[in-house]
Amino acid sequence: LFAAPWDFISAAPTIETLPPMQGMEIALAGRSNVGKSSLVNALTGRKALARTSVTPGRTQELIFFRASPELTLVDMPGYGFAKAPKEKVEAWTHTIRAYLRGRVNLARVFVLIDSRHGIKPVDEEILDLLDKAAVSYAIVLTKADQVKPTALPHVIAGVEDKIRKRPAAFPVVFPTSSNTGAGLAELRGAVARLMAE
Ligand code: GTP
Ligand code: MG
Repeated sequence: LFAAPWDFISAAPTIETLPPMQGMEIALAGRSNVGKSSLVNALTGRKALARTSVTPGRTQELIFFRASPELTLVDMPGYGFAKAPKEKVEAWTHTIRAYLRGRVNLARVFVLIDSRHGIKPVDEEILDLLDKAAVSYAIVLTKADQVKPTALPHVIAGVEDKIRKRPAAFPVVFPTSSNTGAGLAELRGAVARLMAE
């Protein structure tokens, strides 16, 4: 599934410009700078497929990648603070929400949460939207290399506690690091199982 070469399909700044639906889509959502684009690159094994940056607000459109007709990965702009004009951030926030609520072939959303910061109020807003729309999602902790190995279980337990009562949440949290590759095999496995359902 992930071994095939991944290609860029298209970039959609608005909900009107989305590419035609094909197979399942899995989207990566999360606050600006949480590591969405880096995770796309780490999962697909292509270093510069998605553009990354130290500056929050790098990804400004929905970016579609595909390796086979069955599966499309969607890199999204971040929500929350971003170094970009206010109107632009408002426009992409609208696009993100409309996409997450209404994309028919959206099989799962990975909601990325920085291991150092945990779930913030802006994340809760997105989780509320997904629960309301009954779109199934899983929490992926990013930058696990930035917390002490002994602290990680507490971070995971804290996040699991916060999603316990959420109806559309997958109960297991995935700790990952795009830098070290930790947790990537587990995440690819989860995608493979989802596709086999
Ligand atoms: P926007 O597109 O701006 O919303 O950001 P994004 O969520 O796509 O984040 P991006 O992948 O561009 O990464 C943001 C910063 O975090 C970059 O400086 C990355 O190098 C860094 N980063 C991403 N993943 C990791 C990780 O696993 N570990 C560490 N230490 N840094 C990471
Ligand atoms: Mg990005």
